[in-house]
Amino acid sequence: MTAPTPLIAGNWKMNGTSASLAEAKAIAQGVGDCPGRVAICPPSILIHRMAEALEGSKVVVGGQDAHWDDAGAFTGDISGEMLADAGARMVILGHSERRAGYRETDEIVAAKVKAALRAGLEPIVCVGETLEERKAGDTLRIVTGQVRGSLPAELAGKPFAVAYEPVWAIGTGLTPTTAEIEEVHRAIRATLVELFGDAGRAVPILYGGSVKPSNAAEILHADEVGGALVGGASLKAQDFLAIVTAL
Ligand code: PGA
Repeated sequence: MTAPTPLIAGNWKMNGTSASLAEAKAIAQGVGDCPGRVAICPPSILIHRMAEALEGSKVVVGGQDAHWDDAGAFTGDISGEMLADAGARMVILGHSERRAGYRETDEIVAAKVKAALRAGLEPIVCVGETLEERKAGDTLRIVTGQVRGSLPAELAGKPFAVAYEPVWAIGTGLTPTTAEIEEVHRAIRATLVELFGDAGRAVPILYGGSVKPSNAAEILHADEVGGALVGGASLKAQDFLAIVTAL
């Protein structure tokens, strides 16, 4: 089984307006022939224009969330089909800001993953422990439990990624040590192989949480790290490109 192709994905969260399309274009121009895949996940309202602006470039566009149903009376929500129709190829699901802020359980995340697959999107499924859980020595149990609960059997044979994002590292400037990251990534890998057999070895496991130009090389070269999910540092082309080129 070949090693996963690394993926660097930028999660713009609720940041960016049409003026930010210039930043996305600068990213697309700067990625050159980097060895991995690169994605930007802007607010959904920018996806269509960004996908058009980046057409023909190496950078693909993704969503930050999608509903578990394909259509219907869900005011304010967006379906996977709509994201794909707008030009998205991937979608982040189960981000801790959605798990904590919108009470998304593993069951909800798994239902969203199935909906994303129906729409032909590649899911990036996020997992990660809180600081309390880490302090209690519960990290591996929590994270592998989230992997089992959030990844439906329908993913077998489909492209997808898992992102390990310790909740306490997101937007805080704090990061786990390389040894801590490797311990969790190895546990996720073992769970993926348990769930999907040999195919579980080809799934990229991204690290996310305060990835920046100064720590990217060390994190990206850690064992079982197959890329990064980058929040704050993905908003500026210069910073994001410095992370991409650290691959
Ligand atoms: P951060 O966010 O890089 O700003 O810590 C990462 C994320 O939430 O995906």
